[in-house]
Amino acid sequence: MRLDRALRDAEAGRTRTEADKLISAGRVAVNGTVVRKGDVKVDTDTDTVTLDGRAVTSRRFRYYMMNKPAGVLSATEDRSCETVLDLLPEPLRKLGLSPAGRLDKDAEGLLILTNDGDLIHNIITPKKHVEKRYYVRLRENWQPDYDDRFRAGVVIDDGYQCMPARFEGGENPKEGYVYVCEGKFHQVKRMLAAVGNEVLYLRRLQVGELTLDADLAPGEVRELEENEVLALSKKR
Ligand code: URA
Repeated sequence: MRLDRALRDAEAGRTRTEADKLISAGRVAVNGTVVRKGDVKVDTDTDTVTLDGRAVTSRRFRYYMMNKPAGVLSATEDRSCETVLDLLPEPLRKLGLSPAGRLDKDAEGLLILTNDGDLIHNIITPKKHVEKRYYVRLRENWQPDYDDRFRAGVVIDDGYQCMPARFEGGENPKEGYVYVCEGKFHQVKRMLAAVGNEVLYLRRLQVGELTLDADLAPGEVRELEENEVLALSKKR
């Protein structure tokens, strides 16, 4: 890609004009050589681009966590309904991010957004056993046999036997936590329906070792730290 594009992409919010000013001021180098033209081609996977001597991270893959609010779709576009991409700050909308696993429109919580298709696959495929933890509020009190039934593989409405999962009752008899490695449509709601209950509220708290950041307000995103991405990639 062009150097000015690489420099612009390296920092959310930087414009092409700002990038060009930095370049013509001689503050940018490619593989150690100062370059004063924005249209010079660089390969951001192999070339080192520096600004004032510091490497700029024009990474190909980007990873974010969002605290998804209720009322928006976990999709990249929709004709009639607001999507999680609509909630992103403008510069992040151009990165080609997609959600790694969906949350229902009325569900909230941890949503990973990335342009790394392999990571998305690893998170959502049951084969990798990346466990997702959900907090649920229920219509009826949870029962002590839920955990055994989930571990044995509960059969949901269409006859599908779910993979082994877990249920942990909360202190409140109408609250609990569900742990699943697969992501069928409405899975947690259907599993609780299969044991005679109903989910009134659903919030994803954790994906693998990544926990929803308590500081993120509904609709906010933050970039994942390198160690968080590594933790998610561990089961590859
Ligand atoms: N299970 C559900 O029922 N809904 C979700 O959004 C996620 C898991």
